[in-house]
Amino acid sequence: MSKKILLVEDDKTTILLLHKFIEDLGYHIVKTVATGEEAIREVIKTSPDLVLMDIVLGGEIDGIDTTRQINEGYRIPVIYITSSTDSDTLKRALATNPAAYIVKPADKKELKSAIDLALLRHEMEEKLKDSELRFFTILNSIGDAVFVMDTADQITYVNPIAERITETTINKLIGRRFTDVMNIQYDGVYSGLDDATEDIFFNYFISKSGKKVPVDFSMSPIIDFNGLRSGSVIILRDDTERVSSELKLKDSYIQIKKAVDGIIRAMAQTLETRDPYTAGHQRRVADIAQAIAREMHLQEKEIEGIFMAGIIHDVGKICIPSEILSKPGRLSPIEFDLIKTHPQIGYDILKTIEFPWPLAEMVYQHHEWLNGSGYPRGLIRDEILLGARIICVADVVEAMASDRPYRAALGVENALAEIIDKKGILFDRDVVEICIKLFRELNYRMI
Ligand SMILES: [Fe+2]
Repeated sequence: MSKKILLVEDDKTTILLLHKFIEDLGYHIVKTVATGEEAIREVIKTSPDLVLMDIVLGGEIDGIDTTRQINEGYRIPVIYITSSTDSDTLKRALATNPAAYIVKPADKKELKSAIDLALLRHEMEEKLKDSELRFFTILNSIGDAVFVMDTADQITYVNPIAERITETTINKLIGRRFTDVMNIQYDGVYSGLDDATEDIFFNYFISKSGKKVPVDFSMSPIIDFNGLRSGSVIILRDDTERVSSELKLKDSYIQIKKAVDGIIRAMAQTLETRDPYTAGHQRRVADIAQAIAREMHLQEKEIEGIFMAGIIHDVGKICIPSEILSKPGRLSPIEFDLIKTHPQIGYDILKTIEFPWPLAEMVYQHHEWLNGSGYPRGLIRDEILLGARIICVADVVEAMASDRPYRAALGVENALAEIIDKKGILFDRDVVEICIKLFRELNYRMI
């Protein structure tokens, strides 16, 4: 379908000539009018693709004022065809951003190239404007703040969310450097726990109203057609909700952890009130086991579990008559068999409680020995959890080094000599070596 041209011309000879030219060129003159007023009405009515505009017209307004008025409401290319060549007219005409300025008499070839170019340029501009419109509509509708910067890092565009998050209007943001508008910093909320994975880290900025706003942000370069960086885009997301829910989660985790810790210690104390001779034994075993685990560079969570298991490793003794536990002399075989049930009882007490560590199993295994001569199940080597192997060594050292109802303390050195003697047979070789290092090189002391 040929393009529609509106001809604004009051000279009959020129009209005839231009009609012939334009029809020959394959375009269609949708209307010919002689005044600016009529031209504006026809633009509204016929929506031409291009206007050929004489400057000196018969009506109240000339061609230049007519074009100015058309430009206010429409995006239609205008080509002036005029006899006026004075510089004032030319200056006024150029101010209306015409597609071309042709001096009469118009040459057919010149007219063709001016019309073709004007239509082509207009089509490309329209496409560009459409894609710009689509682009900005997308940017304006997304929920994140968008900042577009030039190569000098000065802001050239922001979307409404960016205005909202910075509490600054677009006019006050454009032209400023991003870092002058937002000072993004890094912070952490520490759990106070040994396990650093419970700490929370986030980026934030202080808003104009003094609020600390956590944000998640990313920055991408804008690369032009020549492969050069022509600016950058920063996308900023308000991270308040995520950070606050993580904080709540962390708080409840700490609460639960404190509760578990309290329950375990209460269980340990219950036992120790019935068995004053072993009062403090479990805590000291837990301390030694924890020190060994730490020196073995186990993960913080695993160290924590080993400590907790150490604190209640003898909880099963709660079912053993206290006169047997505190009997000053040697135990009879029957009494000893009864004592040997405590790992199983401890396991039965703990197995239904869901702890973040395998406490029940470590308690169950703390009298198992590498060569299978331990009790209650006679497990061997890797069948025994590392935590249980550690508690086992700590238990032997603490028991020998402390007073017992039936004997005085044998001393730390005798205890260490015992574990060295049974290293690799009853006790884990690595655990024993670390335990020796603790006492002999690192000056570990039982308190
Ligand atoms: Fe025990």
